[in-house]
Parts: sequence; C-alpha cells; structure tokens
Amino acid sequence: MSDQSTEDSGLRVAIIGSGPSGFYAAGQLISALGEEVEVDMYDRLPTPFGLVRAGVAPDHPKIKSVTRVFEKVAASPNFRFFGNVEFGTHIERHELERHYHAVVYAVGTPSDRSPGVGGEELAGSWAASDFVGWYNGHPDYEHLEFDLSCERAVVVGNGNVAIDIARMLVLAREELAVTDIADHALDVLAESKVKEVVILGRRGPGQAAFTNPELRELGELSEADVAVAPNGLDLSDEVLAEDASMTAAKNVEILRGYEQRDGHGHAKRIVLRFLASPVSINGSERVESVTIARNELIEGDDGKPHARMTDELETLDAGLIFSAIGYRGKALRDLPFDEQSGLIPNKAGRVHHEGDVLPGHYVVGWIKRGPSGVIGTNKKDAKETIDHLLDDYRAGLLPEPTAPHEGGSEAFLLERRPEHVSYDEWLHIDEAEKVRGEPHGRPRVKLTRVHEMLEAIEAKRKK
Ligand SMILES: Cc1cc2nc3c(=O)[nH]c(=O)nc-3n(C[C@H](O)[C@H](O)[C@H](O)COP(=O)(O)OP(=O)(O)OC[C@H]3O[C@@H](n4cnc5c(N)ncnc54)[C@H](O)[C@@H]3O)c2cc1C
Ligand SMILES: NC(=O)c1ccc[n+]([C@@H]2O[C@H](COP(=O)([O-])OP(=O)(O)OC[C@H]3O[C@@H](n4cnc5c(N)ncnc54)[C@H](OP(=O)(O)O)[C@@H]3O)[C@@H](O)[C@H]2O)c1
Repeated sequence: MSDQSTEDSGLRVAIIGSGPSGFYAAGQLISALGEEVEVDMYDRLPTPFGLVRAGVAPDHPKIKSVTRVFEKVAASPNFRFFGNVEFGTHIERHELERHYHAVVYAVGTPSDRSPGVGGEELAGSWAASDFVGWYNGHPDYEHLEFDLSCERAVVVGNGNVAIDIARMLVLAREELAVTDIADHALDVLAESKVKEVVILGRRGPGQAAFTNPELRELGELSEADVAVAPNGLDLSDEVLAEDASMTAAKNVEILRGYEQRDGHGHAKRIVLRFLASPVSINGSERVESVTIARNELIEGDDGKPHARMTDELETLDAGLIFSAIGYRGKALRDLPFDEQSGLIPNKAGRVHHEGDVLPGHYVVGWIKRGPSGVIGTNKKDAKETIDHLLDDYRAGLLPEPTAPHEGGSEAFLLERRPEHVSYDEWLHIDEAEKVRGEPHGRPRVKLTRVHEMLEAIEAKRKK
C-alpha cells in the first residue's frame, strides 16, 4: 500500500447518510486534514440532517438549531452533498470503492423493533417511526392516514420517543400551528378527539429511559394534565438500586410530584402506567381495546431488574396504539449485518466481516452503536471512528481507489443518478419552505414529496 498521507495523494472519503453522525464525522475529517481531504456526503433524501429534520419533535425548534453546526461543515470547499442518492439502489459498494479510499456509513436505524403482540396488524396500531415520520413530513410516510377520532390512545415504551408521541397527541392547535410540523399532520392533529394518552412502561419508574427535562415537560402542558396510574405501585416505596443514575433518581422525584398533584382541570390527560405490558391488541378491523398484563420486577442474570408478567390482566378501551420501544437498523447491500443486534458489526467504528476488518469501511452513529443517545452523543461516537480512520490512513492501510472515474465522482453520478441534489440545490428547497412558512409565522412549511422538492429546485433554476 502507498504512503497515503502525502499531500499530493490526498484522501477521498464518502459518507453515506447526512444525519448528525455523518456531519460530525465530516467536520472532524475536515478539521484534521484541511485541504488534504475531500468529503462527499450522500443521502437517500434530497434534504440533509437525518432525524434532526425527520425525528426531533416540531415543538422543539431549539434542538433543531444544531443544523447551524452542520451548515458550517457544508460550507467547506472540500465538502460536497449528493442528496436523492440511495446507497444500494443508485450507488453500490464496489462503485464507491473505485472512487474513494474510505466509506463511512452513517445511515441510522430507520426500522422499529416490534413488540410481537397479537393484533398489531389492526388499523389503528402503529409503529413510532410511522407517526413520527408522518408528522415531520418525511416523504416515506406522508401518504399515511391517521384516524384520531377515538378518545384513548396507548403508547408502549418508556423512552423519550414515547413522550414525544404522547405530547404531540395532546398539544393545542395554536401550539402546533407555529411549528414546522407537516401541513397534512397539522390539520389532523388539531382535530384530534384523543382525550387520554396512556404511556405503558414494562418496568418501574426507576428504570424508565426518559430524560428529566422531557418528563418534566409533561407536567407543563397547556391543555393536558399528567397523572401516574396507581396500578398497585407505591412510588414512595420505589427503591432505586445503589448504582441508579442521577437521571433515574430525578425521574422518580418528578413522578412522585405528579402522583401527589391534583389535576389542573384540563380536558386532556397523559397517564403514566408502570409495570405494564400489552398482551393483545383487540378489535375486529380496527383497534378497539388493549389487554395489559401487570408485571413484577425480578433480578435478571445480569443483576438488573427485569419485567416478568403476572397473570393479572386488564383490558383498556383504546382506538389507537403506538409502539415506541426502540428503533432497529436495516441491512445494506453487500455489507455485513448482525441480525441479532440490527447493526453493522464493527470494532470501535471499523467494519468487521466474520471477525476480520473490512479495510476502508467504517460506521458512525446509531448504525454503529445502536439507537440510543441524543444528538450530541454522536459527536464523541464519530470521533472514535474518525480517529481510527485517520490512524489507518497515516499507516497506509486504506485501499487505493481501484478505478477513479474520469471527471470524478460527480461525473459518475451524472450517469448513474442525474436527479441528485447538491447542497446549493438543497438550499433552494430550504428557501422555498421558509417562504411558504413566513406568512403563517412558521419557521417553514415543509415540502413532503420528493417531486415537489425537485420542482422547487427547477423553479429556482428558471428564475
Ligand atoms: C423520534 C426521535 C426524536 C428524537 N429527538 C431528539 C431530540 O429532541 N434531541 C436529541 O438530542 N436527540 C433526539 N433524537 C436522537 C437523535 O435524533 C439521534 O441521536 C441521531 O439522529 C442519530 O444520528 P445518525 O446520524 O446516526 O442517524 P440519522 O439521524 O437517522 O441519519 C441517518 C441518515 O442516513 C440516511 N440514509 C439511510 N439509509 C441510507 C441509504 N441507504 N443511502 C443513503 N442515505 C441513507 C437517512 O436518510 C438519514 O438522513 C431523536 C430520535 C428519534 C428517533
Ligand atoms: N427530546 C429528546 O432529547 C429526545 C427525544 C426523542 C428521542 N431521544 C433519544 O433517542 C433515543 C431513542 O429513544 P427511544 O425512546 O426510541 O428509545 P429508548 O430510550 O431506548 O427507550 C425504549 C423504551 O422501550 C422499552 N422497551 C423495549 N422493548 C420493549 C418491549 N418489548 N416491551 C415494552 N417496552 C419495551 C424500553 O424499556 P426497557 O428499559 O425495559 O428495555 C424503554 O423504556 C434515546 O436515547 C432518546 O433519549 C431524545
């Protein structure tokens, strides 16, 4: 292998996915190598930023301002964005190997874990990713139709995604109307008849995965009260393991406050119910009720508290059920995939195949470590991978591109995917959305179909 660290050879890296992990990785490569590196970022959507655009709840605009950091990365002269290009469909691994010394997969984990409960196929039973993708205007989900005409919805899971879903179901029209929520979802949610949202946790309050600000926010909603279902659980007795985190201890304190609280007399409410798992979703065509088992906590082989179902059952009338029990990765064509974990097998970011390093292939973010952690967690995670990539580069361990296309990867893409979207073209989409939002006092009104996005680019080109 050649000495790849000399200036004249330079390093060419492709990053697949433009979410936080992809952008942190790109920024770190450019900071470390300056002009010595060229970074091309690909995304299957014409729009960048992954779950910052399509996951973070619309009523949390401050969190989305992290995109300013990513915009700075995108402004580097040695950075290019190729949106509307899907790895595995429009470009393949062997094609990337012809052009680049290294490929970093930052594709996230877009599928849902399934709770495996009978009746999941009924209308009104949804995965978190469906609802979240729909209200955030992700093109894959814009066609879905949510019937919110029932009075009670059940959300399974005790993480922040469960909280997002519950909150979105009870926000007031005025609160939604000033956000970047997809227009199709604004109308449906504003007309929602849902009065009660029950959040089910299979374990106890001390094991919930909520973060404190998100749990606290449930107690500050303008149109909904929050309550903790007694369910035989005495929160004053909630014992935390000695190694329980500060977050868990604080969660229990917040929940104790909710338990003692009289409602504020709001028409809607969110009920947190612990030690409860769904055992069946019932109905003839649509969800009509959910049967729930009471759980008890037992110590698992790992020494941690696990949920064990008892035979105490209860059936709750409900017309909607959302499963928010975590996300799962999807296999990418021609790349190793671990079915059990739902991730690309890797050691500290280097992709592994049957125990051996796959030279020149790296992972970052959720597809590397699993679907947990906030946006900032991906920065440290990307650093570990990029440090290893740089070590490999300096040690001459990266494979040479086998047959760089004449005219570079852009010329190659013009043949393979002429509809690809550059960063400047994304800025036309961005501008069109902001213009649509302005008269309504909204940050943007999203374009939710790929053809509309391409039309916005074309309209700008013609001006
Ligand atoms: C519903 C939800 C709400 C969240 N809210 C918050 C929050 O409020 N605050 C917070 O700090 N964290 C939040 N998070 C967590 C945060 O979004 C994640 O930590 C982060 O987005 C993970 O980054 P990632 O780059 O690994 O994946 P992603 O953000 O999922 O990005 C993956 C990118 O890869 C692209 N891609 C996928 N497959 C391909 C392919 N084959 N070819 C090309 N491109 C592809 C996708 O289009 C996407 O752009 C939330 C997560 C979820 C699920
Ligand atoms: N505002 C924010 O900052 C924000 C918003 C959204 C998401 N995020 C972040 O994004 C990441 C993903 O969030 P998430 O909510 O998808 O995942 P998560 O935090 O991992 O929570 C998943 C929840 O599902 C439960 N669960 C798993 N399998 C289950 C089953 N079979 N039956 C019942 N319950 C089950 C888990 O319980 P057990 O513990 O018992 O397994 C856990 O309570 C998290 O790090 C989160 O903090 C942040």
